[in-house]
Amino acid sequence: MYRLQIITGSIRPNRLLDSVTPWVVRHARAHGAFDVEVLDLREWALPMFAEHAGSIGDPTDPTYSDPVVKRWNTTIAAGDGYLFVTPEYNHSVPAVLKNALETVFASFAFRNKPAGFVGYSTGIAGGARAVEHLTQITVDQEMVPLRTTVLLGQAGRAFGDDGEPADPASRTSLAVMLDDLAWWIAALARARAAGELPPARVRMAAATAARR
Ligand SMILES: Cc1cc2nc3c(=O)[nH]c(=O)nc-3n(C[C@H](O)[C@H](O)[C@H](O)COP(=O)(O)O)c2cc1C
Repeated sequence: MYRLQIITGSIRPNRLLDSVTPWVVRHARAHGAFDVEVLDLREWALPMFAEHAGSIGDPTDPTYSDPVVKRWNTTIAAGDGYLFVTPEYNHSVPAVLKNALETVFASFAFRNKPAGFVGYSTGIAGGARAVEHLTQITVDQEMVPLRTTVLLGQAGRAFGDDGEPADPASRTSLAVMLDDLAWWIAALARARAAGELPPARVRMAAATAARR
């Protein structure tokens, strides 16, 4: 089975995230294609990203500025695909989630793997702007962001007593996204096993240096 890592984007006390994540995790586990691991950023005290060549050290066995940064990079590298569950803060992703993504800058651990998104907010936009920004961010990390996303508007009222969203469209979106995640995880795992190009950023830098 492929490892699906569910990365959650709020660390606030009394976060609404805790109404959304159990629903996503339950359906991801029930899907049957995934070995599901939840990465709750509350449990990852990542420093604000400030890595540089000196802190990274030997790129083949990086030290980084802090052991937790190394552990985060190693953990992400073990994932075959990612599902981000995030609120919208100031029309974008929470800083804590952006920081967790930037912290993977040097290892390219997200590369050539798919990413799905569940956005939510107490407003009517349902985290759409956060998810659109996440799509752009994950492209830069050479992930493959998926087309179908789950957006939960007025999320404080979205769930019934059974922990399921009242709107059937939310359930449909999650089911379609999980099927797409399973397909892309398998396809990209096969492609990675057949061989990968060096990261685009590395090739661009090498080509630029060769022109000088
Ligand atoms: C810093 C901050 C910025 C927010 N910005 C937005 C926003 O841009 N759009 C929106 O619909 N809701 C916004 N909200 C409201 C959130 O949707 C709502 O607080 C939600 O509960 C946040 O998720 P959480 O409780 O899991 O952290 C914002 C909330 C916070 C704390």
